[in-house]
Amino acid sequence: MATLRLLGIETSCDETSAAVVHGTPDAITLESLVILSQDVHRLFGGVVPEIASRQHLTGIVPAVDAALNEAGVSMADIDAVAVTHAPGLVGALLVGTSYAKTLAFTHGKPVVPVHHMEGHLFATLLEHPNAAPPFTALLVSGGHTLLLDVPEWGTYRLLGQTRDDAVGEAFDKVAKLLGLPYPGGRPIEQLAATAESPEYGHPHHFARPMLRKRAVVTDADYYDCSFSGLKTAVLYAVREAEKTGTLDAQRASIARGFQDAVIDTLTEKVYRAAKAHRRGRIVLGGGVACNGALQIALRERFASRGGDVFAPTPRLSTDNAAMIAAAGLYRFGRSEFASPTLTATAALPIPGLS
Ligand code: KG4
Ligand code: ZN
Repeated sequence: MATLRLLGIETSCDETSAAVVHGTPDAITLESLVILSQDVHRLFGGVVPEIASRQHLTGIVPAVDAALNEAGVSMADIDAVAVTHAPGLVGALLVGTSYAKTLAFTHGKPVVPVHHMEGHLFATLLEHPNAAPPFTALLVSGGHTLLLDVPEWGTYRLLGQTRDDAVGEAFDKVAKLLGLPYPGGRPIEQLAATAESPEYGHPHHFARPMLRKRAVVTDADYYDCSFSGLKTAVLYAVREAEKTGTLDAQRASIARGFQDAVIDTLTEKVYRAAKAHRRGRIVLGGGVACNGALQIALRERFASRGGDVFAPTPRLSTDNAAMIAAAGLYRFGRSEFASPTLTATAALPIPGLS
C-alpha cells in the first residue's frame, strides 16, 4: 500500500482533537496531534452533552489549523480526512463529521469514517509497531469494556464485555462516592497508590465480580465482567466509614480495594482470552488503559507465558485524533469512503465485530 497522509478529527465526547499521520498501517508516523480537553465538565461531575457540542464548535477550526501547522502541511498535502462518526454523543459527533465533510469536499478529498473504538485499537500502534494483530485486546473506556480477539485488522471477535457499568464509568462513580474529582480514574489510581499494601493487613477487600474459581470456558460469564455490585459494595464501605467518622482515614484503602478488585477481574479475563486463543500479544486501549497498576498486573501475569503487553501512553490512551487517523489509514486501504450523506451515530458495533 502506498504511503498516505491523513488528517484525523475526533469530537465524540469531551475532547476536540485533530492530528496528522503519514505512512501505512504497518509503519505510521505521527506528524502532529492537538487535543483540546473540555475542563468545564469537571464543574458538573460528568460530561454535559449540550456544552460539549458548543465547545467542539468553537474548538474544531483552531484545532485542525494547529494540527496542520504543527505538521508543516496544508490541505493540499492531505490525502483524506478521517473522522469519528460513531459511537458517542450525537451532537458532539455531528460537529466533527460536518466539519470533516465540508473541509474535505471543499478541497476535493475523500472522507474516511472511523469507529471510535477501532481508533482506540490503533492507538497503541502509533507508539509500538509490534502492537499489530494477532492479539488479544482489552478496550476499557468511560463507555465501553470490550474483550476482543483480533486475528487481523478488521476482524474483531467479541469474547466478553461488561454486563452493566463500563470500567471507566465505575472509576468515575466510585470517585464521586469518595469525594474525588471527575474524571475519577486518575485520582483513584493516585490515592490507591498511597494505601497500605494488602500484604500488611490492607483493610478493604471487595468481592471480585464474575471471578469464580474453577471457571470453564462454557460458563456464560467466563469472559464477561460486572462492576455495579462492586460499586454498591464501595457505597456501603463509604457509608460505614462515614458513620464512624473515619472516611478520611479509610478513603485511600477503599480506593485501593476497589482498584485491586477491578484489576484482578480484568487481568484474569484477559489471561483466559489470550490463553484460549494462543495469543502472545496483548493490546490495551481506552482511557482506563493508562492505569499503571493495571499495566503492571497484566505484565506480571503474562511474564511467565512470555506474553507482551502493549499500552499507549496517557496522551494516546484517552480520546485523540491520532488514533482516528491511524485507523483511517487502514480503512482508506479498503477504499471505505463516506458519501456526502455521512452522519453521526450514537451507538454502533465496531465494523468487523462478530
Ligand atoms: O477513552 P476515554 O478518554 O473516553 C471515552 O471514550 O470514554 O476514557 C475516559 C475514562 C474515564 O472514565 C476516566 O476516569 C478513565 O478513562 N481513566 C482512568 C485513568 N485515566 C483515565 N481510569 C483508571 N485509571 C486511570 N489512570
Ligand atoms: Zn474513547
